[in-house]
Amino acid sequence: MKIILFSKNKHKAREIQNILDLEVNIFSDFVESFDVIENATTFKGNAILKVKALQERLPKEILKDYILMSEDSGICIEELDYKPGIYSSRYANINDFNNKENINNAKDASDIDNINKVIKELNNKNITSSNAYFISCVAVIKNKQILTTHGFLSGKVINKILGNRGFGYDPIFIPNGFEKSLGELDSDIKDSISHRFRALNLMKILIR
Ligand code: IMP
Repeated sequence: MKIILFSKNKHKAREIQNILDLEVNIFSDFVESFDVIENATTFKGNAILKVKALQERLPKEILKDYILMSEDSGICIEELDYKPGIYSSRYANINDFNNKENINNAKDASDIDNINKVIKELNNKNITSSNAYFISCVAVIKNKQILTTHGFLSGKVINKILGNRGFGYDPIFIPNGFEKSLGELDSDIKDSISHRFRALNLMKILIR
């Protein structure tokens, strides 16, 4: 079984390749790289948008030999009304969550800017940590059928940056059962407990 993955995030793609014991190819090896406007209201909706866009762009003769895959993920922070959620990659560039236009026009922000925004919001509330969870939705097109699975990783976010491994919010997220942040833990440990690992494991069952 061979997979073509729609992802522009190198860290994510590496994690997915590490977790799946299948041949994983990056979409830009087959077609010119392109962006998808992620304007669905759920992780599942965005994951489906991405995998369908990939299906439309790939030449028909390639489609029959491969399973197409995309993934959408983010972090939900309890004390911040479960934000940033589906807006995790553009969090620092959203000034007004009540303004749809502001949300839709916001571009992805750097990891450090997103982290600093979470720290600022926690500090504004005079709290040093909050329960939080990561969520991952994996979408696949196999034999023209769309399949989706979800995975979660629970823990807490803190108002301090710990470590520099991983990506995104890893340095401020401590998984339940651990004393260290994902920014400090070995990548093999992250890959064995992560939201992506869990969603991909369920997907492996559906596609085998
Ligand atoms: P997506 O590429 O649109 O799915 O956005 C995912 C965003 O969620 C990333 O840019 C990160 O900010 C965040 N995120 C998702 N998974 C992780 C993770 O495993 N660690 C840290 N941040 C993550």
